Amino acid sequence: MGEPGAVLVYGAGAIGQFLAGALASAGVAVHCVARPHVVKALRERGLQFGRIDGRTVHLAPGVLGASESLEQAPPPSLVLLTVKGPATTAAGAELQRALPAGTLVVSFQNGVDNPARLRDAAPGLHVLAGMVPFNVVMVEPGVVRQSTDGQLACASDPAIETWASAFARAGLPLALHADMRAVQWGKLLLNLNNPVNAAAGIPLREQLLQRGYRQVVAALQAEALGLLRRAGIRPARVTPMPPALLPALLRLPTPLFQALAQRMLTISPEARSSMQDDRDAGRPTEIDELCGAVVRLAASTGDRAPLNERMLELIPELEPGERLAPKALQARLGLDGSP
Ligand SMILES: NC(=O)c1ccc[n+]([C@@H]2O[C@H](COP(=O)([O-])OP(=O)(O)OC[C@H]3O[C@@H](n4cnc5c(N)ncnc54)[C@H](OP(=O)(O)O)[C@@H]3O)[C@@H](O)[C@H]2O)c1
Repeated sequence: MGEPGAVLVYGAGAIGQFLAGALASAGVAVHCVARPHVVKALRERGLQFGRIDGRTVHLAPGVLGASESLEQAPPPSLVLLTVKGPATTAAGAELQRALPAGTLVVSFQNGVDNPARLRDAAPGLHVLAGMVPFNVVMVEPGVVRQSTDGQLACASDPAIETWASAFARAGLPLALHADMRAVQWGKLLLNLNNPVNAAAGIPLREQLLQRGYRQVVAALQAEALGLLRRAGIRPARVTPMPPALLPALLRLPTPLFQALAQRMLTISPEARSSMQDDRDAGRPTEIDELCGAVVRLAASTGDRAPLNERMLELIPELEPGERLAPKALQARLGLDGSP
């Protein structure tokens, strides 16, 4: 069967290399624009990617194209944008300069604002919102591993429908949604755990097993849920648990939470949120994509989101390596009754 063309993955880190590998192993021509250490690994050793079912696929050098800039990439029919939020505008400007008008670009990024930012930076391109529900860890450049499950989502649009069979063959069937904003907000609610994990400085599983941390996540989510209700946005269900019940689940005593949230806890013991890695490495984090989006949502209805505001301020204030215990984090956010 003829493919609709070549795919360009722009910003091939954890998610980008995984999507690139899955599509290439299904016979799609894929080129990655990535940082030098990733380009070197892909060219010299190829890509090894592990699926959630335990299978590991090795793509020999040369199967995936790789370069540091867009100029060396063959003209793509589809671009998957997989940079982190702070890099979206610069990436969009480069894509706009290099690609023909109308090229299809799917933003497979967290948060709710990246597709609009991308459209502003690249008004000639055909931008769709996407959503990745599962986690991928980059073990080292050229080696990525999927660590949780879920189905990719994308805005429904005739342009992406022609790619549906390629994604399905790649083991990444696309769920097409008329209302991607609801899907993005559903995912964002879950991602409100990321800043808590970044402040805790410990693996995700260990953090989720401490009620004090879960109470903070629940409070951030409850604030966002109230604002979404006022704004008339019904967040979509991204996990088996309806979004409105997430805070109550997280607030349960730990033994009950463990019994009811087995899927949430099915993560490798060493997995951490990448916001924690970004913070430790002194890189910009995606805090503005998450808590910042909740603050902007509040402002859009003339409201405030005080807790998300405080978290937005707290993450960049933390020293590299600084770890906050549950009580200390609650105190810094004013959740312990202190002013
Ligand atoms: N990882 C996950 O499990 C996961 C799950 C769901 C959703 N997401 C979302 O998916 C998006 C990507 O996440 P990720 O974890 O894959 O991030 P990542 O590992 O940091 O990958 C992004 C890569 O793009 C590179 N990059 C940025 N600008 C570039 C440019 N102009 N040219 C070439 N390379 C460039 C980055 O390099 P530098 O770091 O040097 O800038 C980095 O290597 C984020 O929005 C994230 O929230 C991630």
